[in-house]
Amino acid sequence: MIEQEVSRPGGVFVGRERELAELGAALDEAESGRGSLFLLAGEPGIGKSRLAGELAARARERGFLVLWGRCWEAGGAPAYWPWVQALRAHVRATDRDDLAEQLGAGAGQVAQMIPDVRAVLVGRGKLGSSKGPTIAPAQSVLSWASAIAEKRNL
Ligand SMILES: Nc1ncnc2c1ncn2[C@@H]1O[C@H](COP(=O)(O)OP(=O)(O)O)[C@@H](O)[C@H]1O
Ligand SMILES: [Mg+2]
Repeated sequence: MIEQEVSRPGGVFVGRERELAELGAALDEAESGRGSLFLLAGEPGIGKSRLAGELAARARERGFLVLWGRCWEAGGAPAYWPWVQALRAHVRATDRDDLAEQLGAGAGQVAQMIPDVRAVLVGRGKLGSSKGPTIAPAQSVLSWASAIAEKRNL
């Protein structure tokens, strides 16, 4: 999640104790290396975004790296757009050497998805890896996310 966009939203957060307990337990699990996926569903205005923002703030306070991507309802968004947004924030905040190390063999594939990565890799001879055996872009992103999470809870 793009951190500046999820700084605690204004106003007091009320209720949602059960949901926060469940999501907080999932953070405990993530700290132990067991990730999970949650879907927050409900009518417009019911509080989905606010709950996600509250969870993001709590995770950040616990030292997690929080990356945030949003879908684009109107159509015409680039492929993998939510992933691009989330990971672009990480690219901009990360040292180039560390980034190249994290990206590993999937660097070329990821660079096709995230132009910021291309800029980082140009001149490092890393882009050539996209001409080698093809790793699916999604797999390259997963490998990258795993490498990030090896150093810090994600
Ligand atoms: N638990 C809560 N405590 C305080 N305000 C809340 C809470 N949940 C939602 N709100 C407020 O209600 C409004 C709508 O919530 P939002 O999260 O945007 O809904 P959704 O994403 O489900 O459409 C926002 O102004 C939000 O800050
Ligand atoms: Mg919302």
